[in-house]
Amino acid sequence: MFSFGHRTNTATILGFVVGVAHGAAPPSLPPQSVFIDPLSFAVLGQNATFRDSAFDSGFNPSSTPTPFFQILNEGFLDILGQEPSFHEIASNPDFGFANEAPVYFPDTDEIFFSGSAFPGNTNVSNQVNRVSMSEVEDALRTSNGSAVNVTVTPIDLPSTVISTNGGTGPFRGSLLFVGDGLGARPPAVTLVNPRPPHNATVLLDNFFGRQFNSLNDVKIHPTSGKIFFSDVPQVETYFARVCS
Ligand SMILES: *[C@@H]1O[C@H](CO)[C@@H](O)[C@H](O)[C@H]1NC(C)=O
Ligand SMILES: *[C@@H]1O[C@H](CO)[C@@H](O)[C@H](O)[C@H]1NC(C)=O
Ligand SMILES: *[C@@H]1O[C@H](CO)[C@@H](O)[C@H](O)[C@H]1NC(C)=O
Ligand SMILES: *[C@@H]1O[C@H](CO)[C@@H](O)[C@H](O)[C@H]1NC(C)=O
Ligand SMILES: *[C@@H]1O[C@H](CO)[C@@H](O)[C@H](O)[C@H]1NC(C)=O
Repeated sequence: MFSFGHRTNTATILGFVVGVAHGAAPPSLPPQSVFIDPLSFAVLGQNATFRDSAFDSGFNPSSTPTPFFQILNEGFLDILGQEPSFHEIASNPDFGFANEAPVYFPDTDEIFFSGSAFPGNTNVSNQVNRVSMSEVEDALRTSNGSAVNVTVTPIDLPSTVISTNGGTGPFRGSLLFVGDGLGARPPAVTLVNPRPPHNATVLLDNFFGRQFNSLNDVKIHPTSGKIFFSDVPQVETYFARVCS
């Protein structure tokens, strides 16, 4: 996952993934990995120290130095394999170009993601970018694994795809994005063609005639195929919005 929200002004892309809980005995682990049994923290007790903020303190009960793979479900080991590793592949100390909505599109071996709002101008939609994973592999091979800075390419999107905050898929061959809206333009759930000309289809932009607040994240249920998304209180500090 990338960071939630729009709080950072700098960005770095790193591999960082966490599995979903179901409870299991500690398995044998690859390097830089920690297994946390979800049942071990299901009840912390009335006098426990609870985290106050998901932004200020990460969930790291083993106090392991980051980055590391925190595994909550043994099934995640199949995804990690025997030799997972972390590499910085693109970074920009000046701007949060990598903020939300990561979607990997296998057909072209690219990852798509959205950036932060542009500093000082919340009247403009953020940018959706893409990175070629084969370029990443080539660069890391040349650098022997040390940090690289590959090309981050902004993609041209229709004006219906605005303030992209969440993404998933591919869903029936398209990227599935949710956006916060901008000005009078409503937050929307959109399908986007991962290939040029990146045409889009708006699937939903209202709740029985009312605008949504700020669509934030989206997932597709793995068996029913239904789309689930979250609609959080309006984030007018990030993208200028008009209440309806
Ligand atoms: C929790 O703290 C309260 C107040 O200090 C104390 O009375 C109580 O015994 C504590 N409970 C436990 C389970 O430690
Ligand atoms: C990586 O490249 C981008 C685009 O050229 C540049 O803005 C950024 O500063 C570079 N990052 C570093 C750490 O030099
Ligand atoms: C954004 O739009 C509002 C309303 O049109 C305007 O008052 C404000 O000056 C604009 N801000 C910028 C940074 O352009
Ligand atoms: C590449 O990195 C590996 C692992 O860190 C190291 O064993 C190897 O010597 C390095 N090779 C070169 C050519 O630097
Ligand atoms: C993009 O356009 C093609 C050709 O008209 C169409 O088949 C496809 O469904 C469109 N994709 C989206 C996401 O709108």
